[in-house]
Amino acid sequence: MSDLIQLGAVNERPKAPRPEELELKFSQTAVDQLEALKTHYPNDKACILPCLWIAQREYDGYLSSNAIAEVAHRLSRSYAEIEGVATFYSMYNTAHSVGKHMIEVCTCLTCHMCGAYRIGDYLKEKLGVDFGETTPDGLFTLHEVECLNACDRAPLLQVGDQYHGPVDHAYVDNLLAELKTQESTVTKLADEIVKVHLQDGHK
Ligand code: FES
Repeated sequence: MSDLIQLGAVNERPKAPRPEELELKFSQTAVDQLEALKTHYPNDKACILPCLWIAQREYDGYLSSNAIAEVAHRLSRSYAEIEGVATFYSMYNTAHSVGKHMIEVCTCLTCHMCGAYRIGDYLKEKLGVDFGETTPDGLFTLHEVECLNACDRAPLLQVGDQYHGPVDHAYVDNLLAELKTQESTVTKLADEIVKVHLQDGHK
Protein backbone atom coordinates (compact mmCIF):
# COMPACT_ATOMS: atom_id res chain seq x y z
CA MET A 1 0.00 0.00 0.00
CA SER A 2 1.35 3.43 -0.87
CA ASP A 3 2.14 6.04 1.78
CA LEU A 4 -0.62 8.20 0.35
CA ILE A 5 -3.27 5.52 0.80
CA GLN A 6 -2.03 4.82 4.32
CA LEU A 7 -2.19 8.52 5.14
CA GLY A 8 -5.76 8.61 3.86
CA ALA A 9 -6.66 5.71 6.12
CA VAL A 10 -5.20 7.48 9.16
CA ASN A 11 -7.16 10.64 8.37
CA GLU A 12 -10.47 8.89 7.80
CA ARG A 13 -13.33 11.07 9.02
CA PRO A 14 -15.94 9.79 11.47
CA LYS A 15 -19.13 8.68 9.74
CA ALA A 16 -22.24 10.82 9.89
CA PRO A 17 -24.88 9.39 12.21
CA ARG A 18 -28.01 8.02 10.53
CA PRO A 19 -31.00 10.39 10.95
CA GLU A 20 -32.55 8.03 13.51
CA GLU A 21 -29.27 7.97 15.49
CA LEU A 22 -28.95 11.76 15.75
CA GLU A 23 -29.13 13.06 19.31
CA LEU A 24 -30.11 16.71 19.63
CA LYS A 25 -28.03 18.08 22.49
CA PHE A 26 -28.35 21.86 22.19
CA SER A 27 -29.57 23.40 25.44
CA GLN A 28 -32.60 25.71 25.39
CA THR A 29 -30.16 28.64 25.64
CA ALA A 30 -28.34 27.39 22.56
CA VAL A 31 -31.59 26.97 20.62
CA ASP A 32 -32.69 30.49 21.59
CA GLN A 33 -29.31 31.94 20.60
CA LEU A 34 -29.44 30.20 17.25
CA GLU A 35 -32.95 31.51 16.56
CA ALA A 36 -31.74 35.04 17.46
CA LEU A 37 -28.71 34.65 15.18
CA LYS A 38 -30.89 33.55 12.28
CA THR A 39 -32.58 36.96 12.37
CA HIS A 40 -29.17 38.62 11.79
CA TYR A 41 -28.48 36.87 8.51
CA PRO A 42 -30.23 36.66 5.15
CA ASN A 43 -30.48 32.85 5.27
CA ASP A 44 -29.57 29.83 7.40
CA LYS A 45 -26.47 29.05 5.36
CA ALA A 46 -24.96 32.34 6.54
CA CYS A 47 -25.33 31.13 10.15
CA ILE A 48 -23.01 28.15 9.74
CA LEU A 49 -19.94 29.69 11.41
CA PRO A 50 -21.69 31.07 14.53
CA CYS A 51 -23.77 27.89 14.80
CA LEU A 52 -20.58 25.83 14.81
CA TRP A 53 -19.34 27.97 17.71
CA ILE A 54 -22.57 27.26 19.57
CA ALA A 55 -22.04 23.56 18.89
CA GLN A 56 -18.41 23.69 19.99
CA ARG A 57 -19.55 25.15 23.32
CA GLU A 58 -22.48 22.74 23.72
CA TYR A 59 -20.35 19.69 22.92
CA ASP A 60 -17.55 20.54 25.38
CA GLY A 61 -15.17 21.86 22.78
CA TYR A 62 -15.31 19.01 20.25
CA LEU A 63 -17.35 18.92 17.05
CA SER A 64 -18.10 15.22 16.90
CA SER A 65 -20.01 13.73 13.96
CA ASN A 66 -23.18 14.07 16.05
CA ALA A 67 -22.41 17.77 16.67
CA ILE A 68 -21.89 18.39 12.96
CA ALA A 69 -25.09 16.50 12.18
CA GLU A 70 -27.00 18.60 14.72
CA VAL A 71 -25.77 21.83 13.11
CA ALA A 72 -26.77 20.45 9.69
CA HIS A 73 -30.20 19.51 11.06
CA ARG A 74 -30.82 22.87 12.73
CA LEU A 75 -29.75 24.85 9.64
CA SER A 76 -31.35 22.47 7.10
CA ARG A 77 -28.01 21.96 5.34
CA SER A 78 -26.28 18.76 4.30
CA TYR A 79 -23.88 16.99 6.66
CA ALA A 80 -21.18 17.20 3.98
CA GLU A 81 -21.49 20.98 3.72
CA ILE A 82 -21.24 21.54 7.48
CA GLU A 83 -18.38 19.07 7.82
CA GLY A 84 -16.57 20.79 4.95
CA VAL A 85 -16.80 24.17 6.67
CA ALA A 86 -15.93 22.84 10.14
CA THR A 87 -12.85 20.96 8.95
CA PHE A 88 -11.63 23.90 6.83
CA TYR A 89 -11.07 26.22 9.80
CA SER A 90 -8.49 25.22 12.40
CA MET A 91 -10.37 26.97 15.23
CA TYR A 92 -13.04 24.28 15.12
CA ASN A 93 -11.99 21.10 16.90
CA THR A 94 -12.97 18.27 14.57
CA ALA A 95 -9.99 15.92 14.74
CA HIS A 96 -10.36 14.68 18.32
CA SER A 97 -11.93 15.59 21.64
CA VAL A 98 -10.00 18.22 23.57
CA GLY A 99 -9.19 18.94 27.19
CA LYS A 100 -10.63 21.73 29.33
CA HIS A 101 -7.76 23.94 28.28
CA MET A 102 -6.05 24.02 24.90
CA ILE A 103 -2.49 25.31 25.09
CA GLU A 104 -1.35 26.48 21.68
CA VAL A 105 2.37 26.96 21.21
CA CYS A 106 3.40 29.25 18.37
CA THR A 107 6.49 27.79 16.72
CA CYS A 108 6.60 30.14 13.74
CA LEU A 109 9.81 32.03 12.89
CA THR A 110 10.01 34.73 15.58
CA CYS A 111 8.79 32.46 18.38
CA HIS A 112 11.08 29.72 17.11
CA MET A 113 14.07 32.08 17.29
CA CYS A 114 13.04 33.05 20.83
CA GLY A 115 12.87 29.48 22.16
CA ALA A 116 9.38 28.24 21.29
CA TYR A 117 10.52 24.62 20.92
CA ARG A 118 12.22 24.72 24.32
CA ILE A 119 8.89 25.90 25.76
CA GLY A 120 7.06 23.25 23.77
CA ASP A 121 9.43 20.55 25.04
CA TYR A 122 8.99 21.79 28.60
CA LEU A 123 5.19 21.63 28.26
CA LYS A 124 5.42 18.13 26.77
CA GLU A 125 7.56 17.01 29.69
CA LYS A 126 5.33 18.63 32.33
CA LEU A 127 2.09 17.33 30.81
CA GLY A 128 3.40 13.98 29.56
CA VAL A 129 1.85 14.45 26.12
CA ASP A 130 3.02 15.34 22.62
CA PHE A 131 1.60 18.03 20.33
CA GLY A 132 -1.93 17.03 19.31
CA GLU A 133 -2.54 15.01 22.47
CA THR A 134 -4.64 15.44 25.60
CA THR A 135 -3.56 14.61 29.14
CA PRO A 136 -5.23 11.48 30.59
CA ASP A 137 -7.05 13.60 33.20
CA GLY A 138 -8.71 15.54 30.36
CA LEU A 139 -7.36 18.89 31.57
CA PHE A 140 -4.95 19.95 28.85
CA THR A 141 -4.58 19.58 25.10
CA LEU A 142 -1.28 20.71 23.60
CA HIS A 143 -1.07 22.08 20.06
CA GLU A 144 1.59 23.57 17.83
CA VAL A 145 0.30 26.53 15.80
CA GLU A 146 1.49 29.00 13.21
CA CYS A 147 2.07 32.71 13.82
CA LEU A 148 -0.48 34.20 16.22
CA ASN A 149 0.31 37.71 15.04
CA ALA A 150 1.82 38.90 18.31
CA CYS A 151 5.46 38.29 17.45
CA ASP A 152 6.63 41.09 19.77
CA ARG A 153 5.62 38.81 22.66
CA ALA A 154 7.60 35.77 21.49
CA PRO A 155 7.76 33.04 22.61
CA LEU A 156 3.98 33.12 22.74
CA LEU A 157 1.24 30.78 23.94
CA GLN A 158 -2.49 31.07 23.43
CA VAL A 159 -4.97 29.62 25.91
CA GLY A 160 -8.63 30.31 25.15
CA ASP A 161 -8.96 34.02 24.44
CA GLN A 162 -5.70 34.95 26.19
CA TYR A 163 -2.20 35.41 24.86
CA HIS A 164 0.71 34.65 27.18
CA GLY A 165 4.13 35.93 26.29
CA PRO A 166 6.95 36.16 26.43
CA VAL A 167 6.90 32.98 28.50
CA ASP A 168 9.65 31.08 30.28
CA HIS A 169 9.60 27.91 32.37
CA ALA A 170 8.50 29.71 35.55
CA TYR A 171 5.66 31.38 33.66
CA VAL A 172 4.54 28.00 32.32
CA ASP A 173 4.57 26.52 35.84
CA ASN A 174 2.35 29.33 37.16
CA LEU A 175 0.05 29.18 34.14
CA LEU A 176 -0.56 25.43 34.48
CA ALA A 177 -1.26 25.80 38.21
CA GLU A 178 -3.71 28.61 37.54
CA LEU A 179 -5.50 26.79 34.71
CA LYS A 180 -6.07 23.74 36.92
CA THR A 181 -8.37 25.89 39.06
CA GLN A 182 -10.31 27.41 36.17
CA GLU A 183 -13.42 26.42 34.24
CA SER A 184 -12.91 25.27 30.65
CA THR A 185 -11.22 28.01 28.62
CA VAL A 186 -12.17 26.07 25.47
CA THR A 187 -15.93 26.39 26.00
CA LYS A 188 -15.50 29.91 27.45
CA LEU A 189 -13.86 31.03 24.20
CA ALA A 190 -16.69 29.51 22.15
CA ASP A 191 -19.29 31.18 24.38
CA GLU A 192 -17.61 34.58 24.05
CA ILE A 193 -17.51 34.31 20.27
CA VAL A 194 -21.21 33.41 20.18
CA LYS A 195 -21.97 36.49 22.29
CA VAL A 196 -19.94 38.70 19.93
CA HIS A 197 -21.95 37.36 16.99
CA LEU A 198 -25.18 38.10 18.85
CA GLN A 199 -24.05 41.67 19.63
CA ASP A 200 -22.90 42.29 16.06
CA GLY A 201 -26.42 41.83 14.84
CA HIS A 202 -27.64 44.79 16.88
CA LYS A 203 -25.14 47.35 15.52
S1 FES B 1 5.92 34.02 15.28
FE1 FES B 1 4.84 33.60 17.11
S2 FES B 1 3.34 35.16 17.20
FE2 FES B 1 4.34 35.49 15.31
